[in-house]
Amino acid sequence: MRRQFSSSFRIWHWLQAIAMFGLFITVVLRESVMHKSQIGSIVKTKLAEMGTVITDEQAVLIGKAVRSPMWDWHIYLGIAVAILLVWRIALIIKNGFGFDQDPHMQKVYKLYRVVYVLLSLMSVSGLILYWKVAGGSKEIVESVHMYIGWSLFAFIAIHIIGVVLAEKSDQSGLVSRMINGAE
Ligand code: HEM
Ligand code: HEM
Repeated sequence: MRRQFSSSFRIWHWLQAIAMFGLFITVVLRESVMHKSQIGSIVKTKLAEMGTVITDEQAVLIGKAVRSPMWDWHIYLGIAVAILLVWRIALIIKNGFGFDQDPHMQKVYKLYRVVYVLLSLMSVSGLILYWKVAGGSKEIVESVHMYIGWSLFAFIAIHIIGVVLAEKSDQSGLVSRMINGAE
């Protein structure tokens, strides 16, 4: 069966995709070239060459400050994901959720439902961390946010492979329909 995608759904999907790719970039930067200790150790070394000695703790504080404008994008894009989720739920309430007779597609739709649950958990845990209202459960919320975050990034990889395989089998034009709506 060839699904038609409404314009609101297509706009939602591509905004969601941009936000998720952006979030992925912020997380990868935070863990790699913009890691607070890594920036800190560069600053510490350079300052030492210029004759100023700072402690490791001071270096990490500078590292965090340098990283901060980049990480602000995680918050902006995270809030965008939370808003997009509310929009998607409103669309599902209005138009219903996708259904297909095909057993494979039924499994795919189950996966999408799981993804929406995970996106909800990410939005709630992210906002709890952002508003600093976790109290004593901060570490648990952080772990939930981190592990589910990485599982969503894994979903995206599987999703893209799945879409490519579907295009190459009986769903040619699928991505085109996700852009143009009708064939
Ligand atoms: C270049 C990247 C991407 C391409 C080509 C793509 C393509 C597609 C296509 C063709 C569909 C419809 C498939 C179907 O009928 O089941 C779809 C659905 C979906 N995509 Fe993507 N996608 C991309 C990235 C993403 C990203 C980053 C996310 C982030 C979470 C995402 C989330 C979803 C979801 C949740 C659905 C199911 C929507 C529903 O039926 O409720 N996609 N995508
Ligand atoms: C689906 C959407 C999201 C994904 C995939 C995602 C992913 C991640 C990941 C993987 C981390 C761990 C980074 C690390 O420790 O290296 C993280 C941290 C964080 N995220 Fe998100 N996030 C999302 C949404 C949000 C939202 C909605 C907010 C709040 C507005 C948010 C705020 C934060 C904060 C404050 C941290 C830092 C936690 C800490 O200090 O350990 N995120 N996010």
